[in-house]
Amino acid sequence: MRHRASFLQLALIAVGSAVVLIVVAYAVPWLPYPASREAGRINFVFWYAEWVSIFIFAIVAAPLVYSLWAFRVKENDLSDGPPTHGHTGLEILWTAIPFLLVTSIAIASAIVLAKNGRAGTDPLRITVTGQQFAWTFTYPNGQTYPVLRMPVDRHVKLTLTSKDVLHSFWIPELYQKQDAVPGLPTHLVVSPTRTGVYPVVCVELCGLGHSIMRSQAIVMSQNDYDAWYSGATKAASKPAPGGAAGGLAVFNGNGCGACHTFSAAHSTGKVGPDLDKLKQEAAGAHQPLDAFIRQSIVDPNAYIAPGYQKGVMPPTFAQTIPGPKLDQLVQYLASNAK
Ligand code: CUA
Repeated sequence: MRHRASFLQLALIAVGSAVVLIVVAYAVPWLPYPASREAGRINFVFWYAEWVSIFIFAIVAAPLVYSLWAFRVKENDLSDGPPTHGHTGLEILWTAIPFLLVTSIAIASAIVLAKNGRAGTDPLRITVTGQQFAWTFTYPNGQTYPVLRMPVDRHVKLTLTSKDVLHSFWIPELYQKQDAVPGLPTHLVVSPTRTGVYPVVCVELCGLGHSIMRSQAIVMSQNDYDAWYSGATKAASKPAPGGAAGGLAVFNGNGCGACHTFSAAHSTGKVGPDLDKLKQEAAGAHQPLDAFIRQSIVDPNAYIAPGYQKGVMPPTFAQTIPGPKLDQLVQYLASNAK
């Protein structure tokens, strides 16, 4: 006996499946709300592909669910089912429609990818440097900061590099990711559309401190940004501060604050020992303060503060911080330690 599915039955199952999927798609916040033009475009492709998937799922689910119910085997019926043949028209249709839909996703993605790579004629250029385990950001004034500040509604061209191993730069609200590769500059164009403070995350396993390799991106109004930038540039153009004052720049430029608390630098990192307690630590290690600080920077595994692990602090600072800067940093830490 043959069942004939009514169009209404199939349509009801299709609509039912689609509704379930739409609820799941919209009830769960899968992606953060986009905060840049690039993120807006990626968000469009994401939802376009989502709707194509919901449509195909509903069309496939309808005959599948119907067949499970209508053609289920009767009790004790061990006979073969009736022989069935393909339906050429149907096969052409169910090949052609997905082909067109998937091709349209590819075209939309290619257009978004091309647009997202365009930085316009006058982007703000910032160099992003990854190193175990901190991000630093170098501006056109030559200064390096531990936090990324960007004006809203402007193209920003980030050039990414790494001082040691592979890292990957990601601001979830801006959607895009880009690897930071030692010796090979990579690029990312971001055009923030919303002011706010967003997390910067490393998404490439880069060592013991990978999970704490975080910073902040602050998107500011153009006025706030201009005020910050001219202030920062003025401070930088004063005769290069020697000794302890220059030490703060070395501290910030090497991302020390990402891992260490140090009140003089307003840093609150919790990964490594609290640098406000350097005098106490030096006493615990039975060393003079200056020598203890220097050793802890260039040979961090020589003495491990109680409660901390070996191998978390990168042993590369002896190579990456030039001698005079290292002197400044040691002096800065020693003179501000409590
Ligand atoms: Cu850098 Cu993970």
